[in-house]
Amino acid sequence: MALSVVILAAGKGTRMQSSLPKVLHPIGGVPMVQRIINTVNELGADAINLVYGHGAELLQKTIQEDNLNWCLQAEQLGTGHAVKQATPFIQPEDDVLVLVGDAPLIKAETLAQLQAVKQTADVALLTVNLDDPTGMGRIIRDASGENITAIVEHKDASDIQRAIQEINTGVMILNGGDLLGWLDGLENNNAQGEFYLTDVIAMAANAGKTIRSAQPASAVEVEGVNNRVHLSKLERAFQLEQAHHAMLAGATLADPARFDVRGELTVGNDVTIDVNCVFEGKVTIGNNVKIGPNCILQNCQISDGAVIEANSIIQEAHVGEACQVGPYARLRPGSVLETKAKVGNFVEMKKSTLGEGAKANHLTYLGDATVGANANIGAGTITCNYDGVNKSATVIGANAFIGSNSALVAPVNIGAMATVGAGSVVTKDVDDDALAIARAKQRQMTGWERPTKK
Ligand code: UD1
Ligand code: MG
Repeated sequence: MALSVVILAAGKGTRMQSSLPKVLHPIGGVPMVQRIINTVNELGADAINLVYGHGAELLQKTIQEDNLNWCLQAEQLGTGHAVKQATPFIQPEDDVLVLVGDAPLIKAETLAQLQAVKQTADVALLTVNLDDPTGMGRIIRDASGENITAIVEHKDASDIQRAIQEINTGVMILNGGDLLGWLDGLENNNAQGEFYLTDVIAMAANAGKTIRSAQPASAVEVEGVNNRVHLSKLERAFQLEQAHHAMLAGATLADPARFDVRGELTVGNDVTIDVNCVFEGKVTIGNNVKIGPNCILQNCQISDGAVIEANSIIQEAHVGEACQVGPYARLRPGSVLETKAKVGNFVEMKKSTLGEGAKANHLTYLGDATVGANANIGAGTITCNYDGVNKSATVIGANAFIGSNSALVAPVNIGAMATVGAGSVVTKDVDDDALAIARAKQRQMTGWERPTKK
């Protein structure tokens, strides 16, 4: 039996006050609807039918999935009408899972539980109990409490019904054949003049079908976003969960409320992470790593025992074992630090390798450079890798010593054990073991008198 998913995302999202369609606003760096798509793919969805109404171009540019059908709902006439737009893609023998596009935190485990309930019933409905159910569709049960008989929308509900705290989350699984029939029978003679998907529940009950419910572990899984206050609430809930994962995996977090993962973070044991760090893309951190406050780590790998000091930015880089980085270091794409290498404050690296034990401790730019083991790059050293048109390489041998404030004009090779005098502008290769000094000679004039005020 195929699992066909319908995601309702045609609402305009007016309260977001945004030119971006609501479902493209991100949670943890991923658009809400993409998050839902990832979750149902995890579940093994065969087809995903995305009902959309606004921002088609942006949506189609952002969301690209092989198993996705785009279903336009030109006019938003209600959730039942929305599901109807997907009927060309629904087969009678399918299990149809309906989801709302603006509740991004739904978990695959919860949906799997709902699938398990569907095995025992004709319709499986995800419900939740809320302290304040205002605005939501209420779940009506028979006297036994066992069987669900209807959903009544808040605006259509009596006072007695409004006292019910069990609500419809908007998530359900039905047989394709049943659903196709019931959708045809929907009417819009209700308080909102809409075709309610929720009316199919009473139809099911009247047809003698069994309707059973499952509940999510936490209500936040089914909470929807209508404005940016809701968005920030769900973002924090999501981030707190990421923080818990990191802590349970071996990281001590200075403050789980000041921790942001916008991708996939893997941590080893005995990692400490100070406040306000942001992890983006795929970040892997080994054992015994220390990360100072305000660091941004993006698609990078930090090996065992490395220390990343405050305010460092590391992008698409590899930091080897026991390396030290920062404070205020910037490792751009293609930076590689081999074991015990050290990069200090205000050092920028790009497409460069710092060999084992090599150091660039202060105020340096290394671009398109290869630095040998144990070389020392003095403060203020710049590899001049760009002539305005092309990029060229600098190669520095093992144990070389580059004096402070030197400009190495690429392409250029500095030999192993070579020394470059401070303040040099090096335009020619330097041999192994040689000393190169490329600066104006110091002169001294004796008997010089300082000017005096006229
Ligand atoms: C809906 C449910 C209600 C439930 C609540 C949970 C109905 C009639 N009511 O109410 O029982 O408690 O969700 O949040 O189903 N949408 C479309 N096209 C439309 C209308 C809506 O795609 O024509 C989409 C929206 O973009 C949204 C979802 O369907 O993602 C739910 O719509 P919304 O208007 O928020 O329904 P509620 O009134 O909240
Ligand atoms: Mg809603």
